[in-house]
Amino acid sequence: MKERIEALKAEFDRVLSDAKKLDEAEKIRVAYLGKKGSVTELLKMLQNVSNEEKKELGQHINLLKKHAEARIAERLEEIKKAETEALVSSAKKYDVTLPVSEISGSYSPITLVQREVEEIFASMGFTIEDFSEIVNDYECFESLNIPKNHPARDTHDTYYLDNGQVLKTHTSAAQNHIMRKYGPPLRAIFPGRCFRNESIDASHENTFFQLEGMMIDKNISISNLIYFMKSMLSEVFERDVKVRLRPGFFPFVEPGFELDISCLICGGEGCPSCKNSGWLELCPCGMIHPRVLEMGGIDPEEYTGFAFGLGLTRLAMMKYGIKDIRDFNSGSLKTLSQFKHI
Ligand code: PHE
Repeated sequence: MKERIEALKAEFDRVLSDAKKLDEAEKIRVAYLGKKGSVTELLKMLQNVSNEEKKELGQHINLLKKHAEARIAERLEEIKKAETEALVSSAKKYDVTLPVSEISGSYSPITLVQREVEEIFASMGFTIEDFSEIVNDYECFESLNIPKNHPARDTHDTYYLDNGQVLKTHTSAAQNHIMRKYGPPLRAIFPGRCFRNESIDASHENTFFQLEGMMIDKNISISNLIYFMKSMLSEVFERDVKVRLRPGFFPFVEPGFELDISCLICGGEGCPSCKNSGWLELCPCGMIHPRVLEMGGIDPEEYTGFAFGLGLTRLAMMKYGIKDIRDFNSGSLKTLSQFKHI
């Protein structure tokens, strides 16, 4: 019987080392240590041997049982480790050196237009400025000649913070800061996100982008304004764009204008897009009000300047033929993925 025990041990070791999967090892456990397993059967056979033999053989079988239990536990751990290693080495590894095209994504059309306009103005000597989206009442209104209770505030209803600050309603909120930062002469553009309380529809959003521009020097006139706007728009739309000015009121410019461009769809003939007028309204602008210059620390007797507030979101819609402004904030990948190739 001793030989039988030794043979069983050798057989068990061999079979177990061949097991490659967790369920295979489990089956072996049942086959040797289960209720009807080989080791258990050996223990049962002890009933048929003499008392002296029983003691010695009993010890041997128990040692075999302990050995089998320990080896199975060990083997299960080995198999688990091997399986994890196999999984890790077969998984697709993240490679930081992969070319960008492997990563799917695209720029927002607003970013694309913004960069284009920035480049054009930079080439004409304008600096590009950044400004906070949270501003104070002075920056957004007072310094722009819009005192408290002025009716112009009605169209600039926005989100107010508990401490009295506001989410800026227009990029003009940076004018005072930039005048004080550089002093005259200066040429600067400042793009930014703006917020207003709007009833939202296909052409109105509560969150949109503007790009403001300012040029202050001696003898700046409306013709400078027209020249810069015309050059910039002709480059953006890659064709000669005609512009016209209509009177418009903004408390921080005098005189103030609405700048229209000749309709890009019909070329000025008249079509549904331009309501048959041949013109599209694009950009409010004007000569900076002397009081606004003064508040910015600039002497209006010596310097004059122009300012414009280009609707960047509007421009992106025109350039790329986007019909619904709500697409921009919709998070719709279908809309944005169209701009991947640009
Ligand atoms: N800030 C104005 C608005 O958003 C636009 C504007 C800018 C008008 C600069 C004139 C000059 O309503």
